[in-house]
Amino acid sequence: MPTKILSVSHYAPENKLTNFDLEKIVETSDEWITERTGIKERRIAEPGIATSDLAKEASLRALKKAGVKPEEIDGIMVATATPDTFVVSTACTLQTKIGAKKAFAFDLWAACPGFIYGLKLAKGLINGENIRYILLVGAETLSRFLDWEDRTTCVLFGDGAGAFVIGNKSEEEGIIDVYLGADGSLKDLLIMPGGGSLKPCSYEIIEKRECYIKMKGREVFKNAVLKMQEAVDIILERNNIKPEQIDYFIPHQANIRIIEALRERLKMPKEKVYVNIDRYGNTSSASIPIALSEMDEKGLLKKGTLLLLAAFGAGFTWGSAIIRW
Ligand code: UT7
Repeated sequence: MPTKILSVSHYAPENKLTNFDLEKIVETSDEWITERTGIKERRIAEPGIATSDLAKEASLRALKKAGVKPEEIDGIMVATATPDTFVVSTACTLQTKIGAKKAFAFDLWAACPGFIYGLKLAKGLINGENIRYILLVGAETLSRFLDWEDRTTCVLFGDGAGAFVIGNKSEEEGIIDVYLGADGSLKDLLIMPGGGSLKPCSYEIIEKRECYIKMKGREVFKNAVLKMQEAVDIILERNNIKPEQIDYFIPHQANIRIIEALRERLKMPKEKVYVNIDRYGNTSSASIPIALSEMDEKGLLKKGTLLLLAAFGAGFTWGSAIIRW
């Protein structure tokens, strides 16, 4: 059964935190952040707003666009590394919040490439099962897991959500191929060490600030470039597609220098690579659907448009996908 993306939408909190605001919080500068990352501002969820709230807004907008009712959804997958709670999936909370009563629901924990992991699952489910509609969401409130005293991480991330309604209502394959990879041996380079079963919540964990995301940026950067390049090369080659046949490349928005390195390797003109890192920072699993939703709003996604996606993140995990809109 062919899988088709029926709609895309996104939601980001209104509250903007600029680099100039950050200059007042940690020892940093707009110049450093802009030059080293490409980020100018990011969105921060208001207190009391959880990942499922951002996911709800993005989902309802996507459902409306697709003309699909919440109760018609067969399954909900939420890609997130920043769930509302540990022992209830954000997907279950979302299911109730949007009234998708007959949908099964689970979270998908694959960090920044989580949305690409979700595409693989959605394609498999729709091809193999009696499933008509899947709601795939990438949603994060990273601001809750950042150490606002650590300038090496707190300037990088932002909050937001993006959603796809994926269905089998088509003759033509929409999710053409998805390639995934992982390497757990390097997990300590980007990790939130505390709060899980290994180091449960305790005063000690809080004192050591281990309930926040830690990253060895330079090493992560090198691996991100390498693995995203590899993921792009593999998926293009195995589908016999040349970079010049791709209409748009949508990379995970982690660092403008990573995006530029990939663009140069693909020899793609700037206008074919979608960039919004300046306005959102790194929103992890939400970054690719937010980018696609903005592209849709700008009228860039037409029937038949060929898209290449790639992402890399904690785990390490990585992936790429080719989609025909
Ligand atoms: O989404 C998952 C994937 N994530 C990524 O792919 C992120 C990958 N990594 C990166 O994007 C970059 O490595 C960073 C943006 C995190 C850091 O950039 P960098 O060019 O690798 O800088 P660095 O870590 O090598 O640090 C250079 C200097 C250091 O000072 P010294 O040791 O040279 O004196 C840092 O202490 O910059 C300093 N620094 C800062 N200065 C001002 C680090 N963070 C800041 C800051 N403001 N916010």
